[in-house]
This record gives sequence, C-alpha cells and structure tokens, in this order.
Amino acid sequence: FEVNWDAEAAEKGGFEHFMLKEIYEQPKVIKDTMSCRIASDGEQIQFEELNWTPEDVKSIGKIMIVACGTAYHAGLLAKYFIEKLARIPVEVDIASEYRYRDPLTDSKTLCIVISQSGETIDTLAALKEAKRRGARSLAITNVVGSSVSREADQVVYTWAGPEIAVASTKAYTTQLVALLLLALYMGRLNGHLTADREAQVIRDLQRVPDQCRNIFDHAGDIKELAAKIKEKEDIFFIGRSMDYGLAMEGALKLKEISYIHAEAYAGGELKHGTLALIISGVPVIALATQQDVEEKMISNIKEVKARDAYVIGVVQEGDTEVRKTIDSVITIPRSDNFVLPIMTVIPLQLLAYYTAVVRGNDVDKPRNLAKSVTVE
Ligand code: G6P
Repeated sequence: FEVNWDAEAAEKGGFEHFMLKEIYEQPKVIKDTMSCRIASDGEQIQFEELNWTPEDVKSIGKIMIVACGTAYHAGLLAKYFIEKLARIPVEVDIASEYRYRDPLTDSKTLCIVISQSGETIDTLAALKEAKRRGARSLAITNVVGSSVSREADQVVYTWAGPEIAVASTKAYTTQLVALLLLALYMGRLNGHLTADREAQVIRDLQRVPDQCRNIFDHAGDIKELAAKIKEKEDIFFIGRSMDYGLAMEGALKLKEISYIHAEAYAGGELKHGTLALIISGVPVIALATQQDVEEKMISNIKEVKARDAYVIGVVQEGDTEVRKTIDSVITIPRSDNFVLPIMTVIPLQLLAYYTAVVRGNDVDKPRNLAKSVTVE
C-alpha cells in the first residue's frame, strides 16, 4: 500500500489532488496545444495534420459538433468561434441524442467529434452514424491512437497530457484552444477572416499562458468565496454569448465534485421563469467578460440583485461598470473576446475545487462518475 501511496503522491507533484495539479498545468498544455500550430512568423495558423485547401473549407455546408459532458461544452463555445470567424453554420449536439434523432447530415457536413479520452461510446457511435450518412469527419481528442482517432477521417490532438481527475479541466481548455485555432484556420482559408484579425487573435492567445499565472495569484480569494458558498443548496450561473457556454461548464464542474445543485442560464432567459428561484442570499455567479453584451448583462445582474441574490461577478480587469452592481468580484486578464473563455473557465474550476475540498468530498473520484464512459 505504502509503495502505491508514495507513487501516487509523487505523480501529484506536491499538489493535494490531481484536479488541482491539472488546473495548474494549464499554462503549459495550452502552450503545447497552440505552439505547434502557429507559423514561425506568429501571424498564421497552420494545421499540418489537416493540410486543407480553400476549396476543402468552402465545400463545407454545415458543421455538426457531437460530444458528451465537458467536451460538449467545448463544442458550445466552438459554435461561436466558427460561426463568427469562418461564417460556417454550426450545430452542436449531445452524442447520445444525435445518434437517435435521424439527423440531417450528408456529404456536405463536416462532423467534428470532441472527446478527451477518445473512448466514449456515445461519441464513437455518433461518429460512425455521421460517417454512415456520408459526412466528412474530424476528431479532436487527447489520446493518440484512441478509438475515436482511428475512426475519424482526420485528427487534431489536444496536447493536454494524461488527465487523471474525473472532472475535466486541462482537457477542456486545450479543446477550446484547438477549436479556436481551427476557426481561425477555416476563416482564413474561406476568406472570411482578414490576416490582421487572425494575427491579432494569435497575439492574445500567446499571452494566455503568462496571464493564467495572474489568475492563480488570486486563488486565495477564490478559496474564500468557496467558503462562503459551501453551505448553499442552489447556485446559479448566468452569462450571455460565449459566457453562457462557460456558465454551463462552471455549473457542471460545481455539481460534479461539490454535489451542490447548480444551474446555468443565459442571462436574458432568467426572467422567463427561473427568476422565481432567486431569493435572498442565493449565490449567482455572473459571467460578464464579453464587452458586446456587457450592458445587457448588467441589467440581468440588476434583476437578481433586486431579489437580494449574492452576486459574484467575473469581469475583465479594468472593468468599472459591472463592479458597481455586484457583491464580490473575480477578475480575468484583458484579452480578445475569443481568447477570454480559455481563461474565464479557470476561476470556475478553482471555485468548484475549493468548494468540494471544504465540503470534504473525494475531489478526484466523485461519487457515481467515471472518467470515461465506455458502455451505454
Ligand atoms: C465522462 C466524464 C466527463 C467527460 C465525458 C466525456 O462523463 O466524467 O468529465 O466530459 O465523459 O468524455 P470524453 O473522454 O469523451 O471527453
């Protein structure tokens, strides 16, 4: 036993849990995932493993993204990346739903499956179904030689390294990186993205590994917030546009390991019912990093403040407006709108982590969950 324990402790590299270690590995794995795809002049994305021509991209009528769990949440963000930067329509579906809904998929469809393990049975079956219907396929996976990588026509690897904790962290951020790079690549090839814009996003991406360390400097504040929410029964996450996708991931992380009930809502959707659940002291994590919808988010925050919710705002550094409306603040270093999500998720991971720890849960092996689900 002792030998195993020592071996496990060594693998954790001084961290108390694999999850925390993996959260802190993000600067490195983000860098590993992007560096090999940025041309030496730092201005262009290249995917040697894809080697697409402009015609390859122009012939895509629709992109169908299929995945499960956290990987599905990466797909939700990818819809914004690809639709905005490459103007190709994107549908995102949960793999176990896609398989059984007689999907509108044909030879003009590019099916992108996202899977950390590359072994999730529903994702693999969805990929086979898309191929059966004539779609081209691309797998985004973290495991070289995995089932999904062997089944797909082409593969883009996330270089996150082994992820041990059941709750996914570094795999998710590297999926976001790979998908953003892919959107930039497609946008340039099909002519929707200017070279300047591409270079600008790449510049901000390259700053992320250093900026992540900035977020880690405030881990103590996040730990304090965790202590404040630890006894709560319900927690809400709200956000608009890309922050909505992140709200879903933040809520999932918290549920998975802290076992506190959490729900994510699009900021504008709250008033259509859920507002009834916002009562005095209920924590609302309001993600308000996206400038183009900031004003709208502020009115959504005011709606919950009017019901006396306890609002933790997640904002960009330098923000002055959102700050006036919230109770506690988490700041994210300034960056391009498309790059921000890669950093915004990190405090949400830390909040889930510290909340689970303070509640005494088995953080790395939460009850009832498996790292990879290979049976239906
Ligand atoms: C399981 C894990 C989740 C993961 C999902 C998809 O449910 O607990 O953390 O997001 O599978 O896994 P995959 O390996 O396909 O990304």
